[in-house]
Amino acid sequence: MRGFLTAHVLAAILAAGPSFASELGNADQGAPVFRQCSACHQNGEGAENRVGPHLNGIFGRDAGSVDDFGYSASMARVASDGLIWMQATLDAYIENPKALVSKTRMNFSGVKDTQERADLLAYLRSFSSQINVTLVEPSRMYSTCFFSNLYLGGVKEIDDLGHSYGAIAAEGINVIHDRAVDVDSAAKTVSRASSSTLPYDKLVLASRIDFVDRAVEGWDISAQNAMPHAYKGGSQTELLKSQLVNMREGGTFAMVTPPNPYRCPPGPYERVSMVAHYLKANNPTAKIVVADPKDTFSKQGLFQEGWLRHHPGMIDWIKSDFGGGSVSVDPVGMTITIDGEETAMDVCNVIPAMMAGHITEVAGVTDGNWGPVNAADVSSKANTDIPVLGDSADLADMSKSGYAAKSQAKVCANAVRGALTGLKVFPAKFSITCWSLIEATAEKISKVDGFISQTGESTEMRRATYEESEGWYKGITSDMFGA
Ligand SMILES: Cc1cc2nc3c(=O)[nH]c(=O)nc-3n(C[C@H](O)[C@H](O)[C@H](O)COP(=O)(O)OP(=O)(O)OC[C@H]3O[C@@H](n4cnc5c(N)ncnc54)[C@H](O)[C@@H]3O)c2cc1C
Ligand code: HEC
Repeated sequence: MRGFLTAHVLAAILAAGPSFASELGNADQGAPVFRQCSACHQNGEGAENRVGPHLNGIFGRDAGSVDDFGYSASMARVASDGLIWMQATLDAYIENPKALVSKTRMNFSGVKDTQERADLLAYLRSFSSQINVTLVEPSRMYSTCFFSNLYLGGVKEIDDLGHSYGAIAAEGINVIHDRAVDVDSAAKTVSRASSSTLPYDKLVLASRIDFVDRAVEGWDISAQNAMPHAYKGGSQTELLKSQLVNMREGGTFAMVTPPNPYRCPPGPYERVSMVAHYLKANNPTAKIVVADPKDTFSKQGLFQEGWLRHHPGMIDWIKSDFGGGSVSVDPVGMTITIDGEETAMDVCNVIPAMMAGHITEVAGVTDGNWGPVNAADVSSKANTDIPVLGDSADLADMSKSGYAAKSQAKVCANAVRGALTGLKVFPAKFSITCWSLIEATAEKISKVDGFISQTGESTEMRRATYEESEGWYKGITSDMFGA
């Protein structure tokens, strides 16, 4: 859920050894190898600089960064170029120091044996406690999609949905506000829009969704200001809200819903409920038309019961059988054509077919529209060093929800930590909850680990469930943002 993480220290698995243990190296066997270094370097408690700098915390350390040590000009140069000590760079430097840093003052011919280097690095890693985690995320503020429909309905304010990255940065995560534009999976680097690159050992992609080009005839991303999708949070949600508020009296609000699979299956129908709730209070003669390429949808019985009970006659749901899948729009003329019949609309919310975020495809880990992953650790089936999380991932029949993304993130974090440090990896366990508000004051329907609200339930029951969902929001956002 946090844009995208590069856990770029405490590397494992670069040399293609025969087993996991030998790829990672053995710290006990590395201790005697370190004797070759100890003439010049110290490690551990009370370590000081000698001929060479101390090597505590070397994994993740910027090259040439020990304050009171006088480095060579050559080391200073590679440091200013952004060299970071991690598995791959340490391995290269220790194998042949002058090949990596041409005029380094480290007069040492190198450790030529691959296994000895792996063991030595495992030993050095034991003096580096941190996995270095970098988050690359263009936005400074994350605006949750979940509960954004409640903002449309007037139940929440836009400020209730915004979360900053300050608390996770304070926890030691390196937060870089930039866009990832390319991935070189052979060199294990990520390029950023600002043109500098980041090395990684594990690259976690959680890059949300993008829209399938021309999925709705007449609509592409350049039409999103006239006909917003409001499906990525933030300014799009605010735009749709302002169009709803400014809609003429008795006007029509149209929604084009996406085909399966898409993020948050009940999302469009919760939105219909919330828009209807807003209109009932502010524009009661207005109408809602929903063009749907499907014949059934998530929690359909519950939603339709709610629509009938609270908004009789206001909502026209046109399913695929009745032409709901045969739709084109004209964002300039503000019309929608359903099954050949053109109608003028006042607000048109187009939610096109979806696919994994663009960077997932760029990284070469998609198959078709989504990124298939292994259930044990959510690593990509195409590249085990690139886990894919959240909506972009294709993982059995897990729905594309925030709760599912969080649960995948926990499995992934555990597996990445294990791979990079050798610590125990706990078996993968996934869980999922999904909330949808039917009517603002009372009715939150939900599914919690097998529990799902029933049609005909009492208002009290629904109110209790709604209050529970407020706690869910606080819990998931504090898990994500640490505040
Ligand atoms: C209307 C609506 C209602 C919803 N309601 C619920 C609900 O009640 N419960 C629930 O569990 N889920 C709900 N969801 C679904 C939930 O929001 C998503 O499933 C969840 O956010 C997916 O997480 P993600 O990490 O895949 O993507 P996101 O949360 O979208 O995060 C992806 C991040 O990646 C960043 N990014 C993208 N590309 C790049 C790049 N190239 N470089 C760097 N960063 C990049 C983006 O800026 C973004 O911050 C709802 C969704 C919608 C649209
Ligand atoms: C003869 C002394 C000597 C030996 C032996 C030696 N080093 Fe060094 N090492 C140095 C010096 C001097 C530097 C600083 C290099 C510079 O500034 O160019 C250095 C730098 C380093 C750095 C970079 C540190 C930083 O802060 O950027 C690492 C990592 C390193 N050595 C690891 C090792 C390891 C591991 C061994 C044993 C396999 C080893 N060295 C053996 C003298 C030595």
